[in-house]
Amino acid sequence: MTGLRGHDVLNIADLRRLAERRVPRVVFDYIDGGAENEVTLQANVRAYEGVTLRPRGAVATVDPELGATVLGARLALPFLLAPVGSTRLFHPRGEVAAAQAAGAAGTVYTLSTLAGSSIEEVRDGSSGPLWYQLYLVGGREVARRAISRARAAGYSALVVTIDTAVAGLRERDLRNGIKELLAGPPLARIPFLLQFLARPRWLYGFLRDGGLMRFPNVLLADGPMGYVDVGPALERSVVSWDDLGWIRREWDGPIVVKGVLTVEDARQAVSEGADAIVVSNHGGRQLDGVPATLRVLPEIAAAVGGRIEVLLDGGIRRGSDVVKALCLGATAVLIGRAYVYGLAAGGGPGVARAIEILRADIVRTLKLLGCAATADLGPGHVDVPADWPKPPLR
Ligand SMILES: Cc1cc2nc3c(=O)[nH]c(=O)nc-3n(C[C@H](O)[C@H](O)[C@H](O)COP(=O)(O)O)c2cc1C
Repeated sequence: MTGLRGHDVLNIADLRRLAERRVPRVVFDYIDGGAENEVTLQANVRAYEGVTLRPRGAVATVDPELGATVLGARLALPFLLAPVGSTRLFHPRGEVAAAQAAGAAGTVYTLSTLAGSSIEEVRDGSSGPLWYQLYLVGGREVARRAISRARAAGYSALVVTIDTAVAGLRERDLRNGIKELLAGPPLARIPFLLQFLARPRWLYGFLRDGGLMRFPNVLLADGPMGYVDVGPALERSVVSWDDLGWIRREWDGPIVVKGVLTVEDARQAVSEGADAIVVSNHGGRQLDGVPATLRVLPEIAAAVGGRIEVLLDGGIRRGSDVVKALCLGATAVLIGRAYVYGLAAGGGPGVARAIEILRADIVRTLKLLGCAATADLGPGHVDVPADWPKPPLR
């Protein structure tokens, strides 16, 4: 798509602006918004501003090594694509487009349980490494079937998200009429339909792609779960540490526990046999008022002590953000909105552009830091705010 490479699109904020112009308000706010006062959403982003870099000059770093080894696989980049539900609403066949862009860049795409494309469609559409993110919506039997499909399709890791006992209160969604649009009587919907008419190009693509998606990876007795059932289904299907036992029996590959914010949960994940954790607050979409992920990363990395891998997500909008997270103890990071803005702005090429922006940022940042490889980054490359504990040396 033209327009993604010019001076209009130099950074992720530019992709966000384009996305806002292309998709209806209810879709944009679903992507962009967070829970309640959005304090955590903003804190995630701001935390990177508080951490400053300590460059070493006069160091030749011609071609810095960007790769990361995550769960035994060598990735070309130190970031992966996070699971994002309903991606198909942002752009036709959105999950497949994002997986293709990730694979082409040499990194992992994580498919959400609440995706609009099936496990198999995404596998067939992409040659890159794939992870599957598990919610227990629909119950254990439904989850078992999805796990076995993911195994058969060659997904290499299972991500169990533990921070979604109930959907967070995302007030923007309610104000935009999400309830009325999904399940209201026809008359109640009318005031909210104008936002779709204001985005005819998106509307055309949406209708051609089949209209409102169902969830093909949540196969209930009467077929794929419908959109309107998500909230109640999440509440009925809270994952507990006990579930890790049977999940482990169903899945013999690596398990990643996503949504860890405390040293206690990190230790528990280690003792339950997880292979990695993602320090995550769901991009500020769940419990508002929890700390920025970058802020708690050093203490969690120290508590884990290298026994399992520590990944992080939340607030990454620049390659230098990725670098800071690696300095403070992450093996690699996941990006959510950064790639989704690209998808909403321009489909697969938009995701590729988002990845390219971050990749180029990381190369430049490493060169300016005087660091030859992401693997060499450590606490010596950053200063943290005075009220943060000093990060432990690696
Ligand atoms: C629109 C949207 C939908 C999401 N859906 C899921 C999901 O289905 N499962 C999940 O584990 N995390 C989900 N997340 C959270 C992301 O995986 C990730 O934790 C978060 O986006 C990271 O923050 P960032 O967007 O600031 O990068 C979603 C995030 C967004 C923005």
